Amino acid sequence: MSDRLLEIEHLRVRYRRMGLVRALLTGVRDPWLDAVLDVSLTLDSSQTYGLVGESGAGKTTLGRAVIGLSDTHSGSIRFQGQELTGLPESAYKPHRREIGMMFQDPVASLSPRLTVRSLIIEPFHIHEVKLDDPDARAGELLGLVGLGPEFFGRYPHELSGGQARRVGVARALALEPRLIIADEPTAGLDVSVQGEILNLMAELQERLGLAYLIITHNLPVVRHVSDRLAIMYLGRFVEQGSSERIFARPAHPYTKALLDGIPQPDPDRRRTTVSIEGEVPSLESRPQGCEFHTRCPYAQARCREEAPGASELEPGHSVRCHFPLG
Ligand SMILES: Nc1ncnc2c1ncn2[C@@H]1O[C@H](COP(=O)(O)OP(=O)(O)O)[C@@H](O)[C@H]1O
Ligand code: SF4
Ligand SMILES: [Mg+2]
Repeated sequence: MSDRLLEIEHLRVRYRRMGLVRALLTGVRDPWLDAVLDVSLTLDSSQTYGLVGESGAGKTTLGRAVIGLSDTHSGSIRFQGQELTGLPESAYKPHRREIGMMFQDPVASLSPRLTVRSLIIEPFHIHEVKLDDPDARAGELLGLVGLGPEFFGRYPHELSGGQARRVGVARALALEPRLIIADEPTAGLDVSVQGEILNLMAELQERLGLAYLIITHNLPVVRHVSDRLAIMYLGRFVEQGSSERIFARPAHPYTKALLDGIPQPDPDRRRTTVSIEGEVPSLESRPQGCEFHTRCPYAQARCREEAPGASELEPGHSVRCHFPLG
């Protein structure tokens, strides 16, 4: 049985792109950039949610908002029923313990001067949790991620990409979270090592009942591991639904283009490649109408004028397109 763990509604996160004075001087009326716009999702315990989109889509910003590292402008984030937006740091901290984070770059996100032992103990210091036997706990966590005690004294630069990622998993697991946000967990790793990390994550999920929010620019990464999927473009979810349904029959042209970029194992199923050539538009000048129209092979006149809202194709499957694919 699963229960609702995370519930995000109409979330908006924005960055200031210039100071007030410069905005006044240059006549810019809106000095903000919306990195996350009107995003809603629900995640149940022990489930995996895949969040996919090209670089700059707002994935990291969204993940960081959930652990309180990016300020939310509006909307709501509820974790285990508790509203997290607007909480002062002191009230936020206990919730953050239950959300582990695997940061984007496995090696760069580990302090170079700390040994693996210290890196794994660090979350306990940050959260002022006293351990009776730190070495035993560190050893236990290392064991969970498949590394032996010989790694205790190593420094991050002495680790391979896969080992550094495992240490990142151990750190995320330290405080026994219920949710782990994994930002590009396989980026920069060889394909075989990618598989090892995904298998390890799946194994830990089974064992510990974890939920994951997996962020990736690489759609195949979440194919076999996610229950639900959101495709993100310029800060918005353009398609959202069960992973199975979306991989079988994508409804948004952007999703289809991402999928068509994946080599098909069966040559008969190989479709004509839809190009998503062209630059991702800048957040500073979002296209009018449908924001994907500048790259969409199916764009029609209406698309250039009218922005599509999110419509539900079937329960739990929604798409932001005037002409969803069948
Ligand atoms: N701290 C920041 N200040 C200003 N703009 C930012 C900041 N962080 C990210 N951005 C901008 O927000 C957008 C989304 O970034 P990000 O969340 O990192 O996307 P992704 O993880 O999908 O690549 C990008 O246009 C990026 O340049
Ligand atoms: S609304 Fe039009 S431009 Fe946008 S994705 Fe759909 S078909 Fe393409
Ligand atoms: Mg990112």
